[in-house]
Amino acid sequence: MCGIVGFIGCKPAAPLLLEGLAKLEYRGYDSAGIALVENGQITIHKAKGRLSVLSDRIRGGDGIEATVGIGHTRWATHGKPSDENSHPHKSASGRFAVVHNGIIENYAALKKELQSDGVEFLSETDTEVIAHLIERSYTGDFLAAVRAAIQRLEGSYALGVLCAEHPDEFIAVRNASPLIVGLSEIGNFIASDIPAVLAHTRRVIPLADHEIVRLTRDAVTVFDQAGHPVEKKEMTVDWDVTSAEKGGYDHFMIKEIMEQPQALSATISPRIDADGGIVLDGIHLTASQLRKVNRLFIVACGSAYHAGVVGKYVIEKLARIPVEVDLASEFRYRDPIVDEKSLVIIVSQSGETADTLAALREAKRRGARVLSIVNVVGSTIASESDDVLYTWAGPEISVATTKAYSTQLTMLYLIAFYIAHKLGRIDDRDQRRLLSALIRLPDMVSGILRQAGELKQLAQRYAYLEHAYFIGRNLDYAVALEASLKLKEISYIHSEAYAAGELKHGTISLIEEGTFVVALACCEKLIEKTMSNIKEVKARGAEVLVLTTDDNRDVLPEADHVLYIPKTNDLLMPSLEVVPMQLLGYYIALARKCDIDKPRNLAKSVTVE
Ligand code: F6R
Repeated sequence: MCGIVGFIGCKPAAPLLLEGLAKLEYRGYDSAGIALVENGQITIHKAKGRLSVLSDRIRGGDGIEATVGIGHTRWATHGKPSDENSHPHKSASGRFAVVHNGIIENYAALKKELQSDGVEFLSETDTEVIAHLIERSYTGDFLAAVRAAIQRLEGSYALGVLCAEHPDEFIAVRNASPLIVGLSEIGNFIASDIPAVLAHTRRVIPLADHEIVRLTRDAVTVFDQAGHPVEKKEMTVDWDVTSAEKGGYDHFMIKEIMEQPQALSATISPRIDADGGIVLDGIHLTASQLRKVNRLFIVACGSAYHAGVVGKYVIEKLARIPVEVDLASEFRYRDPIVDEKSLVIIVSQSGETADTLAALREAKRRGARVLSIVNVVGSTIASESDDVLYTWAGPEISVATTKAYSTQLTMLYLIAFYIAHKLGRIDDRDQRRLLSALIRLPDMVSGILRQAGELKQLAQRYAYLEHAYFIGRNLDYAVALEASLKLKEISYIHSEAYAAGELKHGTISLIEEGTFVVALACCEKLIEKTMSNIKEVKARGAEVLVLTTDDNRDVLPEADHVLYIPKTNDLLMPSLEVVPMQLLGYYIALARKCDIDKPRNLAKSVTVE
């Protein structure tokens, strides 16, 4: 949610800021802006709309000589998308400019206080108070003014601040919104996420909460909350630069769907040792500690929550421990019965989702041990958890998650096998059998991806429908939740997922001639039951697409169209089922000419509540 960048160095800043913002557009794309220090003054260029509107307006920064600047791409929270509400925001004298990612919770009180001092506001944003507060605290010491201002702020903020009187430096701050520093040959950067600096450097310093950094052309100094310099460790990013590029694909989403076999292998392989045992590098839980755990919680948002629903079925089935799956936004406020006997599994691609982070803190406050499954290395959720297991999906840029979800499933399978084995609920032979099925998933997914052409064709048939229902039982239902979200978020088709047996308790009244129903029928022991539900909707005129396994070739005469996928262990079927569902959502959205990588009203990394 909102992306910020900053640069100071020996090259013109404007093109570098635009280039960095282009890599952060997945975080917000309703307006964009940059601020530069030129001839002792701050110049701001900003525009409502996609980054391309701003970039065209200033011809890609061509001819702008300034070598220090900050930039922002916005996902509106306070005030509608408009030129005025776009960042950067200036202080009244024009001496300071600020870009901000996060929410200032006490901004209304601060605004009132500043207005009663005669300050005039030009925008509806919460961010503008920060520029005015810095101005009010300024007596010639830039760093001190920023430090004084942030002491008044409540909420979350990653900030970049420019001062017209200090053209050889800029300052950045982090509190509960992500921020990294990039160190390069041409100068120093800040950014909300690594891809923004990857074209210039792999040397990165992730900042911790409450740290302030002063950047000059040849130095970066990090200070703690009390103003003491902090020694920070540099991290070398080993991603391939092209991993954050589209690499010939039309959209990041399809590229990331196609990358799933590699992402799965990268997540599974390092976790299986030469003797065929599981090595969960980030877990330090012993069998005796596990025996004390009487309840497991999986807490997450969106697709990560859907992965958690799969996790519940699999962990309960194998480890026989009760598992509750919770939406993080509900868990944090529902006074959950969590204590030191609970193990809380937090699932998050970004590792920065505000509700998920708050749920993690709530669980820890109540004494639970927290194990997180995270994709972004060094993210806040990873750094605050007791144990971390990384999904090695690589950077995920598309707003709609695909490869991160798939690797989350894999990690949950490994955790289920690990816990079940440690507790003696499965023996060595069972574990070996499950692992050998798990190892085969990447190849099986590759095979399914070869059916993309069939799905592209099929998508033409469903592209103009306005409603869809995804039904299934048990693990098929868990996948239906994700399949339905994939379709609706990028194609804007209204879609719902239902446990197939639940349909007749109300929702079946919506099924009429031509209603689109996707039935997931891969769960072997329930196939007959799901078939009955297919017949029920078919009898009411539904157009039914069934997803099932190869061995069911002649058992589904009721369907209008059947998609076949190979069969694996029942518990692992979700990893295969989700792939055609991702492709279906993608190709339907493509046929509807939707902006697939930047769906309306959405942004990746939801750092607001
Ligand atoms: C949907 C999607 C979201 C995220 C959710 C959690 O395609 O991507 O539903 O799954 O916002 O995000 P993370 O995993 O970063 O916590």
